[in-house]
Amino acid sequence: MSIQDRAEKNVGVLIILTILVVSIGGLVEIVPLYFQKTTTEPVEGLEPYSALELTGRDIYVSEGCYNCHSQMIRPFRAETERYGHYSVAGEFVYDRPFQWGSKRTGPDLARVGGRYSDEWHRVHLINPRDVVPESIMPGYPWLARNAVDISDIQKKMRVLRTLGAPYTDEQIAEAPTELADKSELDAMVAYLQRLGTVIKTRR
Ligand code: HEC
Repeated sequence: MSIQDRAEKNVGVLIILTILVVSIGGLVEIVPLYFQKTTTEPVEGLEPYSALELTGRDIYVSEGCYNCHSQMIRPFRAETERYGHYSVAGEFVYDRPFQWGSKRTGPDLARVGGRYSDEWHRVHLINPRDVVPESIMPGYPWLARNAVDISDIQKKMRVLRTLGAPYTDEQIAEAPTELADKSELDAMVAYLQRLGTVIKTRR
């Protein structure tokens, strides 16, 4: 009996051979990614988030903006025409955790940085309908009223540094000063304005 006959007639052998084939196939796909620089190295010019941007990013996560917004432009014409250059892995090396997502009740935000003025974002975040009448996005008026939390920013930056974000001692020392008198809205706008700006797009 050939191996093929045996595998087709004996479920145990079939399962083992299937696991073997799928494992090898999986490893062949996954392992090279660990050694490919394009997936582990920052794109040219990428800096870790400033203290203010980092704070905005944490508010983005805690407010659940990712429930409606993805941050990953796929390499398809329909996406690049609308949002700009498709996202590349090297843009996200300092994102922990990344905010790629797949839920798009609202538009993708991977390259929203620089698309609108700071003032537009302020008005929009407080009440989206003031600038986009048909918008179904909720307002976040408390962002303007809440001061940012300064207490743990240095700790966060130090942890990110151990994970590879190249913060200098000076940047960490100055972080509380950078955040002094800032509202959560200031932090959110700083974060949004920074998104996707390292790769220049046509828009
Ligand atoms: C319930 C879903 C929902 C949530 C939650 C949500 N948004 Fe939106 N967002 C939308 C929709 C829909 C639009 C498109 C209409 C508009 O511009 O208001 C939008 C638009 C935007 C835009 C403009 C994008 C562009 O390219 O025009 C930004 C920036 C934005 N949202 C940021 C945020 C941030 C920051 C948060 C979290 C504080 C958030 N959104 C939470 C649904 C949502």
